[in-house]
Amino acid sequence: MTENFRMDRRALLAVGAGAGALAGLAPLSARAAAKAAVAKASTPFPKGFFWGAATAPHQVEGNNIASDLWFLEHQQPTVFAEPSGDAVNSLELWPTDLDIVKGLGLNSYRFGIEWARIEPEKGLISRGMLDHYKAMVAGCRDRGIAPLVTFNHFTAPRWFSAMGGWTNPDAPALFANYCDKVARAIGADIGMAMTLNEPNILLLLRKILPPPVWDAQRATVQAAAKRLGVARFVCANVAGPEDIDAIEHGLAAGHKAARAAIKAVRGDLPVGFTLSIIDEEAAGKNSLRDAVRQELYGMWLEIAKGDDFIGVQNYERAVWNDKGRLPAPDGADRNWSGTEVYAPSLAGAVKYAHEATGVPILVSEHGVGTDDDTLRARFIPAALRDLRQVMADGVPVLGYVHWSLLDNYEWIFGYKPHFGLCSVDRETFVRTPKPSARVLGAIAARGSI
Ligand code: FCB
Repeated sequence: MTENFRMDRRALLAVGAGAGALAGLAPLSARAAAKAAVAKASTPFPKGFFWGAATAPHQVEGNNIASDLWFLEHQQPTVFAEPSGDAVNSLELWPTDLDIVKGLGLNSYRFGIEWARIEPEKGLISRGMLDHYKAMVAGCRDRGIAPLVTFNHFTAPRWFSAMGGWTNPDAPALFANYCDKVARAIGADIGMAMTLNEPNILLLLRKILPPPVWDAQRATVQAAAKRLGVARFVCANVAGPEDIDAIEHGLAAGHKAARAAIKAVRGDLPVGFTLSIIDEEAAGKNSLRDAVRQELYGMWLEIAKGDDFIGVQNYERAVWNDKGRLPAPDGADRNWSGTEVYAPSLAGAVKYAHEATGVPILVSEHGVGTDDDTLRARFIPAALRDLRQVMADGVPVLGYVHWSLLDNYEWIFGYKPHFGLCSVDRETFVRTPKPSARVLGAIAARGSI
């Protein structure tokens, strides 16, 4: 049974070669090329392609009280719109979540292990919580679902962040020690390991969030430090801008140490991290596009060259001319916050990540935060059509994992944004698949669009 979920380096390369082999086309006339493009995009996805949905522990489990973000949610002042509380109670309801994944016809589930549960106090490893995640992995296997596991999805234990978080020189070793414990508990039975989720998120947010939000973030972490009587309280996705470079540096070392720790336990387990990639397009002469890309992704794409794959997470595009980012065109589709969403951006981000790294791609997140599920239902097949096309053009893509399985706790924005394939009643925790969930499930079941 376990064999089904093993995907070693050889298998990864085989998937890549399969996709690449489709690319060997001779030059074609424009009309013939257009026809071929349609044919290629409708070609079935490769066998063994992961079709999945994703969650993150802090966003769905609930009562993550030993974590750093829980503490920040309860400071005065706090940048968080509301506390996470029970989230959607997936700590209890994970079997229901897995039943939904299976019921939709998906063959993989990306979920995270919560460090603050495994090591709620420094050096205190919870055997019970390791067993909990072991049961989840077994629950996946029993249902024929490949577990794609994130070792750190932004949140860390409160004690870790109170010691300076990722800016602490000991951070990589502390993280690697936790990864070693997790790998020993579940490493044998999982399909892929992602050390860190979006370690570049602060670099992206630096360009997007307005100054008052940065002020609120700084005030929040300062309030936390004061309350604990420590010099600094440093988190991975909530920070003052002055800490960003040091955090990035620590995360990079953390990834490498974690990769080594996981590989030492199971050398053939594919290990990588996920990167948030906006699809940047260049407009006109001297576009800022390449400089922006270098700033947001340069270091991380370099690091990924030493990994087995890279997780690509895409939600939008950005068009840059020589002066700055251009506004979205009139009539563009928009998400809950008013940002443009553009289905071809996924394929653009995937192509860029592969060209820059040479490693296979897992689409580890892609989705749209909206109350209009018809937009999500349109967006999924449109993005997948383009994704299939870049695969036909030679980019090795291992799977497509939609964010998110469930409407959940969207960090500082609280419960307002809805990214789920399923809605969740926050009183009863009853999950209800939306029409878009069936759209994705049907594509997964057919293996083609
Ligand atoms: C990504 C995060 C994920 C979720 C989605 C909407 O940046 O990895 O946890 O917040 O955005």
